[in-house]
Amino acid sequence: MVDRSSPPGGPQHPSLSAPSLVLRLGGIALVVAALAGAFAYVHGSFDPQRLTPKALVDVLEKNNGVHPGFRRNHAKGVCVIGYFESSGEARPYSVAQVFNEPRTPVVGRFALPAGSPYAPDSAVPIRSLALRFTQANGQQWRTGMNSMPVFPVGTPEAFYQLQQAQSPDPATGKPDPTKVPAFFAAHPEAVPFLTWIKTAKPSASYATETYNSVNAFYLVDASGKKQAVRWGMTPLAQDAAGATAPEGSDFLEKDLVQRLAEGPLRFQLNITLANADDPVNDASKAWPADRKVLNAGTLVLEKTQPQLSGECRDINYDPLVLPAGIQGSDDPLLAARSAGYADSYLRRTSEVSQLPTGKKEARP
Ligand code: HEM
Repeated sequence: MVDRSSPPGGPQHPSLSAPSLVLRLGGIALVVAALAGAFAYVHGSFDPQRLTPKALVDVLEKNNGVHPGFRRNHAKGVCVIGYFESSGEARPYSVAQVFNEPRTPVVGRFALPAGSPYAPDSAVPIRSLALRFTQANGQQWRTGMNSMPVFPVGTPEAFYQLQQAQSPDPATGKPDPTKVPAFFAAHPEAVPFLTWIKTAKPSASYATETYNSVNAFYLVDASGKKQAVRWGMTPLAQDAAGATAPEGSDFLEKDLVQRLAEGPLRFQLNITLANADDPVNDASKAWPADRKVLNAGTLVLEKTQPQLSGECRDINYDPLVLPAGIQGSDDPLLAARSAGYADSYLRRTSEVSQLPTGKKEARP
């Protein structure tokens, strides 16, 4: 007997029957729509008020101009190469190899926190030091530190508004001078930073500054116990008594090259341990000065490299790239930094570094 319900050539495969195919295609369309929605949510397309990494980097570009191939903030800098020698003092608090092995190689970068690679070294009284420690097990610890003890604000939204207050007014091409004072009047959390910056002076050397993590992190021991910390690099080199920043725009890199020609430069890694009630999610607030401080070891810097061809050029000093034994806190600046640096990194590494005619990068 012939089975009339089957098409000639045998029964049709269930997945190819018309209603089932429509259902399946519909299902796929739903999954694609859900994924597109998730991307749009993360991108901020549903909420134009949502602060995105793109908006954060766009405002930096608006204020500083676009300098192809350069970082969108801390654009002027120099690579440094060296290593870290652990003292063993942080070992009881963290399983990270960097605190447990005698020596870990480091690629770093000193910089000026300005958006232009041509800013004079005296433009701001702040300097920065970023470091990438590469452990023997391949895990990395990346950190970007500033010479300020606290950040002006505690949230990415406030950081964005502060940048907006400094943006050029389309009518004049210059920032409106009333906007920054108005911003600070509305942001009392900036008082500790404003108090510090009142007396801060541009220093004559990268080698004599103290660099602070500003954000808080956790050290994690072998039992999983977490200790909130902030860290800083304190220089072992001293300024000559009464030294002030010299005239001229590019003295910092020359000074560094000169000092390294005479021998390595050393910094001590100090790790401050928070008490239980110290704020770990607000970089605008200092911790009391009497907190316990570990001397975790010594950073030894041996040579410089130009930033456009050196090893630091293609490093994104994302503060959330951390080895086992160090964790980020819930400070909202950390996630914003991580996402913003990635955006800046993608922009700069997809461009050819261009120096304007007449500008030459120093070749130490
Ligand atoms: C929401 C707040 C912040 C935003 C949007 C922001 C943005 C940026 C961007 C776009 C870069 C360039 C990254 C690259 O191209 O590799 C940068 C560099 C840097 N930032 Fe931030 N930043 C923020 C907060 C902070 C804080 C709190 C610190 C405190 C230590 C800090 C320290 C640094 C340092 C040291 C560098 C230079 C890193 C290097 O030499 O490559 N930033 N920042």
